[in-house]
Amino acid sequence: MIEEHILDQAIATLFADIEFPREPAGLYDPLRYMIAIGGKRLRPKLCLLTYSLLRDTLEPSVLGPAAGLEVFHTFTLIHDDIMDRSPMRRGCDTVWKKWDEDTAILSGDVMCIDSYRRVAQAPAEALGPVLALFTKTAAEVCEGQQLDMDFEDLPQVPMADYMRMIGLKTGVLIACAAQMGALIGGAGPDVADRLYEYGYQLGLAFQVADDYLDTYGDAAVFGKPIGGDIVLNKKSWLLTRAQEKIRRQEALQNALALPVGSADERVAKIAAVRAIYDALGVGEDARGEVRRLSDLALDAISGLDAGLGLPGTTAFDRLRDFADRLVSRAK
Ligand code: IPE
Ligand code: IPE
Ligand code: MG
Ligand code: MG
Ligand code: MG
Repeated sequence: MIEEHILDQAIATLFADIEFPREPAGLYDPLRYMIAIGGKRLRPKLCLLTYSLLRDTLEPSVLGPAAGLEVFHTFTLIHDDIMDRSPMRRGCDTVWKKWDEDTAILSGDVMCIDSYRRVAQAPAEALGPVLALFTKTAAEVCEGQQLDMDFEDLPQVPMADYMRMIGLKTGVLIACAAQMGALIGGAGPDVADRLYEYGYQLGLAFQVADDYLDTYGDAAVFGKPIGGDIVLNKKSWLLTRAQEKIRRQEALQNALALPVGSADERVAKIAAVRAIYDALGVGEDARGEVRRLSDLALDAISGLDAGLGLPGTTAFDRLRDFADRLVSRAK
């Protein structure tokens, strides 16, 4: 097993040294910008973490795929910010805001392609399964993003549909990161599947937490504007839960129909919907759901050490600590 501080150092070096072509600058500068402004880098971290459970040394061949996961994730953010009309990301201007929408579309496209180049650096013995996993995941993320947009136009969606949507837009990439590290590390199918399930449930918890923070977070820490989901009538966990609970459906529907044309109107709408969330206690419910989902993630890996042929519970403990850090997020 590889020590965790070695993984953290590797991640820091990987993104400090990451290279994209210089020319044309208009195409590649946004990629440099998005990587430079950072992010939590949890997907490459999780990939290295599951790899580290199976190996004693960090081989360079896992670093390309780990970087590819972050590059792919970052591409989805560039396009997501156009779709969600969001002006702020990681505490900085979004690409469409800093440059323009056309730049964000094309730089996002080339970033997606670049991510494949990096994932394809996986060692030959794992390349087939790694590329199959990544390709399936990439299509699923697009499916989730389409459902997320389709849901904006529906008055309400069942909780099961919301869960399916976030599983696709967010769960599968975190699951893919967990499984990719395991595949490159040489895990058998049972361990690889368990780690996928861990990543998937953790990804659900992570997105519910993101939805919670979108309403209740601190913009300075979260790095994104507060209330964006409300402005767009996103079917967030909070809204879906509120609609499940609400007796006085009418009050919430009226608040949702409030105009959002001006900044004052947006502030008034966010306050009106948030007041209904407060009355229903859906913020607390969201936090409970985050805990429930992260417990499911841990259920998926109970007995993992024995499955890996290891004594003790070090592998399980490491993934539990990672999960705890991930769901106690304020950013
Ligand atoms: C944001 O992901 C998109 C979601 C799936 C909620 P992160 O919260 O991992 O974003 P960064 O990479 O840390 O900025
Ligand atoms: C984004 O979900 C999921 C993907 C980018 C695939 P959100 O739209 O909630 O993410 P944020 O809040 O903008 O980071
Ligand atoms: Mg979105
Ligand atoms: Mg968004
Ligand atoms: Mg969000």
